[in-house]
Amino acid sequence: MYFFKRAFNLENIFWGANQETKTFVKKEFNEFLSGGESQIRDLCLREDGMPRHILSSTHFNKKFLDYIYTLTKSLKLFHRGNPKYVSNLCSDYSVLNYFQQSSSRTFLSFSMAQSLLGVRKEEVRSIETSSFTKGESDIDSLRTISSYFDAIVCRHPSSYYHLFAGWVMSCSEREIPIINAGCGIKEHPTQALLDYFTIKESFSGRVNGLTVGFVGDCLRGRTVHSLAKLLSLFDNITLVFISPSELSIDNDTLTYIRENSPSTKIVIKRDGIEPNVSNLDVVYMTRIQDEWGKKGVYPEEFCFKKRLLDKFSPDGILMHPMPKREEMDPALDFIKGDKRLVYWRQQRNGMWVRAALFAYLFNRGNQLENLN
Ligand code: NCD
Repeated sequence: MYFFKRAFNLENIFWGANQETKTFVKKEFNEFLSGGESQIRDLCLREDGMPRHILSSTHFNKKFLDYIYTLTKSLKLFHRGNPKYVSNLCSDYSVLNYFQQSSSRTFLSFSMAQSLLGVRKEEVRSIETSSFTKGESDIDSLRTISSYFDAIVCRHPSSYYHLFAGWVMSCSEREIPIINAGCGIKEHPTQALLDYFTIKESFSGRVNGLTVGFVGDCLRGRTVHSLAKLLSLFDNITLVFISPSELSIDNDTLTYIRENSPSTKIVIKRDGIEPNVSNLDVVYMTRIQDEWGKKGVYPEEFCFKKRLLDKFSPDGILMHPMPKREEMDPALDFIKGDKRLVYWRQQRNGMWVRAALFAYLFNRGNQLENLN
């Protein structure tokens, strides 16, 4: 049998089964990319500067972030008061959850967010059940999906897939929003939105002036990259990247922040959590992303031990995008009533923020305004 195997590496987009298609599509996409960041922004942003696709946290501005924050709050309140109304809000819309890389909470929270709003949804979670095995190119798969649905939520191992999908939409006559649910190692913008919501809510609406420590795999953690860039929109932010040298924050993120937000203070630390924890408002833990290749044994100093809570500010918060592993002391989960341990609430916030995002993308936000 003629069977198309996809080796899951970073740049792996399936351009087409025959050489001519491959070369042609790849050349067109490269031409688009060579237009640089301004071309990508034009693709992603509406005329009013608000995003039409959710591809990268670099396309967010404060107006959009404020809007999503307020909308999420309204949605939660309104759902409490009148869940039936909320469950019809987007019932005339449909979404495909197109996950070509493993996921639990991102997939489930997207799916539940859609259920909350009455969105009709389908899922593809494995390329083995799709026409890829018949040699269909990614461009044709995306255009096929856009024939039936009103938005695509995609997760993919390639760090370029979300841009590719956005570009494919802009070439078609039925352009629907693309939502990047984690593509490759660079970006996870909806995680950044829910992290931002969790931070802002925990600090009573304040983000300016915070010192945020990212711990663990700062090199390949897409949640780290997206959130760090988002936070650099705010005033007097200090970002402390705490990791062993081989997992140090990547240059793309550093360059982006230095160029776009000179007032953001960047600190790089290799000495573990303990010497730094008392200076942090937020500790953002991450696991080793070893699906991208092993990077040695994870050192103890970068694990959050229960005893570190004694040194941590009483007003600080401990976050984690999950899944968590050896970097989090299991004893933390058996502490009750410590309001600094927000990572389970953070996870639940993902559902509400993603629901607010669909209300925004499907232009139903105005039906939830002025409700709080
Ligand atoms: C993260 C991811 O997939 O990037 N998880 C998530 O979406 N909440 C983080 C991780 O896998 O470690």
